[in-house]
Amino acid sequence: MKLKQIHRISGIIIAVFLVLHLSNHLFALGGPALHITVMKYFRMVYRFPPVEVLLLLCVTIQIFSGLRLVFTKGFRKQPLYVIAQAVSGIYLSLFLINHVRAVLLARYEWHVETDFYFASGVAVHYPEKLFFIPYYTLSVLCAFTHIACAHYARSMELATVWSPSGGNDRFKKEAFWIFGTGVVVTALIMGSLTGLFYPL
Ligand code: HEM
Ligand code: HEM
Repeated sequence: MKLKQIHRISGIIIAVFLVLHLSNHLFALGGPALHITVMKYFRMVYRFPPVEVLLLLCVTIQIFSGLRLVFTKGFRKQPLYVIAQAVSGIYLSLFLINHVRAVLLARYEWHVETDFYFASGVAVHYPEKLFFIPYYTLSVLCAFTHIACAHYARSMELATVWSPSGGNDRFKKEAFWIFGTGVVVTALIMGSLTGLFYPL
């Protein structure tokens, strides 16, 4: 199997988790208690040991395969979507290493509950928030950017197989819609985490 295929399959597994993870954060719009209740349900899925092992394995595969893809393909003098895919991917590698390490350390070393208050504490208090607000904001924006670029690249690839004229403009529009959704989702999550909608 080619590296790109491995990255795609592992990426789809992470993307399924991300749907749960980010919609969980969106539930914070209804307040911290709702976020925590929903997390308890979602944990039954992604903290089920075989699922969690698979997810963490996919995160590791994604970082190694993604970095390899960036450095074999290169991104200088490439179209914008290739550059955006590489840059968002590099950010996601650094973010995931730090993020998953923090979550696992909190759970197994510091014995701290990794719920809404774990995430929002550092996004509300000065000076930590100077780092954590851009850190979380970019993570969600990069995830959507990366998926938008992947959708565009894959659609173009399939279009040249099925119809050589392709559907360039339509795919571009769809990629912008994915990115635009990402901007709205990021704003709503960050507003909730930073106490914009209710006092924290
Ligand atoms: C949140 C985790 C990630 C997801 C869900 C994800 C998903 C994807 C998907 C679905 C593709 C399209 C593959 C295809 O065209 O068939 C892709 C491509 C790519 N990803 Fe990721 N990825 C993630 C993380 C990363 C990371 C950490 C890097 C590291 C830098 C990275 C670098 C790349 C590169 C360079 C490509 C383009 C491959 C090519 O066209 O040759 N990705 N990604
Ligand atoms: C606003 C941005 C984000 C916040 C506030 C956040 C917060 C959290 C929290 C609180 C946990 C612990 C969950 C639990 O205890 O059940 C967690 C776990 C995790 N997050 Fe995020 N996250 C964010 C973005 C992301 C993104 C963009 C990704 C992937 C690209 C990601 C990947 C993960 C993974 C893989 C875990 C580990 C799940 C586990 O096995 O327990 N997160 N995150």
